[in-house]
Amino acid sequence: MGATKLNIFEFHATIERYHTIQNPISEEKLDLAMRYCGIRDGMRILDVGSGKGWLLRQLASRFDIHITGLEIYPTFAAEARRLAAAENLESRIQIVEGPALEFHPEPASFDVVMCIGAAFALDGFEPALDWMSHAAKRGGAIALGEVFAKELPYPPEIPRGGRADLDYPERSLLTTVETMRARGLPLRGLIEGSVDDWDRYHSLHWQAGMDWALENPGHPDVAKLTDPAGMRLDILDRRYCGWAIFVARNGLD
Ligand SMILES: C[S@@+](CC[C@H](N)C(=O)[O-])C[C@H]1O[C@@H](n2cnc3c(N)ncnc32)[C@H](O)[C@@H]1O
Repeated sequence: MGATKLNIFEFHATIERYHTIQNPISEEKLDLAMRYCGIRDGMRILDVGSGKGWLLRQLASRFDIHITGLEIYPTFAAEARRLAAAENLESRIQIVEGPALEFHPEPASFDVVMCIGAAFALDGFEPALDWMSHAAKRGGAIALGEVFAKELPYPPEIPRGGRADLDYPERSLLTTVETMRARGLPLRGLIEGSVDDWDRYHSLHWQAGMDWALENPGHPDVAKLTDPAGMRLDILDRRYCGWAIFVARNGLD
């Protein structure tokens, strides 16, 4: 019997097998974003869509904090737990496996709520802001890693629609910040991914896809995994679609 197509979980685990950070951003910039969040010993932190948990481990290795990561993909959740254990950080890091929306935080129960590249797990940008703001303490921090349009309207060469989790947004950087402020989330830090960050992020996808295709000749997903468009990882992303971490204070009172 021939090999069957990869399901959505296997597909993502395959193309992100070389990533430690699963977003178009560098370690240094993520570090800066966390400094803008004002993390200190004793805090409770929530990370929605925590992936392999690089950020959780960085924070837990530096601060005496309790971090909860929400992650739907069993492969990533298992990897995050394994790496936390390897660094003796299990007492500070808890990974909750499953859809983020099935996790119901007590209102105002976390000092910092982060969602770095997974707003779709909370039904999109604006619902994510409301969900995160509800979970965070007043005066606490929200860190949202999210795409925005660098140029509107998009030129005709940009394919519209059909991309499940990273369609080109119709929201500029300014609109993003203003929407947050209108919801009681004034900006206190902004860190934008660069073209280099996008290139590094997608290059790892392409290398993983190609290596996997070479290891699995004849598999029905080979064509998809050796074609950036098939992987929905467009080489135009970096030019028209920005990505930034928006750090906001939860309320001004
Ligand atoms: C772009 S990755 C970002 C991972 C991590 N935050 C990072 O920066 O390295 C998005 C993550 O969200 C997870 N995810 C997707 N849908 C989810 C859901 N409904 N609930 C929880 N996690 C989800 C994916 O499995 C993936 O690990």
